[in-house]
Amino acid sequence: MPGTREGAPAEHGFSRRALLLGGGAVAAGAVVGGGGEAYAQARVREAVARERAQADTANALVTQTFHGVHQSGIEMTPQAHQTLVALDLHDDVDRAALRRMLPIISDDAARLMAGRSALADSEPELAIMPTGLTITVGFGRELIARVDPALVPAWLAEQPRFAIDRLEDAWVGGDLVLQIAADDPLTVAHTRRMLLKDIRPFTTVRWEQAGFRRAWGSQRTGTTQRNLFGQVDGTVNPEPGGDDFRRVVWDGTTEDRNPAWLAGGTGFIVRRFRMLLDKWDLLDREGREEAVGRRLDTGAPLTGTAEYDEPDFDAVTPLGFPVIAEYAHMRRLRSPDTAQRILRRTYNFEQAPRSADELSESGLIFTAFQHDVGTQYVPLQQRMSDLDLLNEWVEHIGMAVFAIPPGCDEGGYVGQTLLEG
Ligand code: HEM
Repeated sequence: MPGTREGAPAEHGFSRRALLLGGGAVAAGAVVGGGGEAYAQARVREAVARERAQADTANALVTQTFHGVHQSGIEMTPQAHQTLVALDLHDDVDRAALRRMLPIISDDAARLMAGRSALADSEPELAIMPTGLTITVGFGRELIARVDPALVPAWLAEQPRFAIDRLEDAWVGGDLVLQIAADDPLTVAHTRRMLLKDIRPFTTVRWEQAGFRRAWGSQRTGTTQRNLFGQVDGTVNPEPGGDDFRRVVWDGTTEDRNPAWLAGGTGFIVRRFRMLLDKWDLLDREGREEAVGRRLDTGAPLTGTAEYDEPDFDAVTPLGFPVIAEYAHMRRLRSPDTAQRILRRTYNFEQAPRSADELSESGLIFTAFQHDVGTQYVPLQQRMSDLDLLNEWVEHIGMAVFAIPPGCDEGGYVGQTLLEG
């Protein structure tokens, strides 16, 4: 809440900048001069206060909590904008270096999510409208192995591969991932830059995927989003706050195969799909609905009338064919094994076309959270790879898997259970 964000956002800004930049900051300080620094800080405080007074209180000052048992950005309705950044650790980053880097990420994240600038923030005015900002940190296999190979969860030891994969190097792997999401794209951009600046001594960006949903305020909360095929996408998903959610995401539904440091955390997969929209354009509405087994207008199963109606997989047409085809996406992805369930959190992307023959490079950034990637997600992806009509109009071009450590208390940092547990 706005009232919880106290103090001047840039209160330590200049001293931390001096710490991070060393000589450069000393030079800048020399220009500003002794009293000059206090003057500059007062100017920043004024600017920030002015900006905050202009904020539209409906959404601008909404905050999510960084500290807690679980990390933020998972058990919630997804925000309108999200950027995922996967990073590679520099070769010399060892356990001791991680012990220095991870508290910096947590400190920045806690401040930015609360609407306060990070310590070395050179654009503090950009930090004061968090619009529900969340920052979620995930570890790839390599990061965990640098601490202790024995602590890598079994499902992260080897990346799963599927026959349908047409993976492009640009979208694969990563030692560390940051999921940065908010209802305002400027907030996301500022947060991304702040975090990357602060961990630059340790990491290099490997890939980045920016996605969007409907703009904040354009639809009633709880409305299922649409993807660029026009489909209602996200209907069957565990509800935040429920036991079901806890079982799928936090506790796991099967025998617990995770290492102790991951208690309160979960598993995360990022899969990038190119949507072949020009080919999709050639398909009539009936064919489009058949591909998933749901109606395009309401998102209802083809055997029902409303989005949340239970599908009737036994229903047949007058000619005796199943109404929801065996190869329909929804039918393929509904596993008879209730342990094989995941939390989907998808975003759309659209970029400039790769060639003059196309109108755009569009698709879906499919992400899913589940406690055990191996037993919950992999069987579903295998079914989709084996048979799914939707595959006619998508290319599976990216894949990355991460462990999401638990949250942390104030004074702690995300990753503490791995490094010190
Ligand atoms: C471009 C790729 C994809 C598109 C366009 C897509 C689209 C959809 C749509 C429209 C639905 C029906 C509505 C809903 O329940 O959300 C659906 C359901 C579902 N999808 Fe996907 N999906 C894609 C990829 C995937 C992948 C990679 C997985 C997991 C491996 C997956 C898992 C599911 C599940 C579990 C359901 C719910 C099935 C049920 O009714 O129980 N989807 N998807």
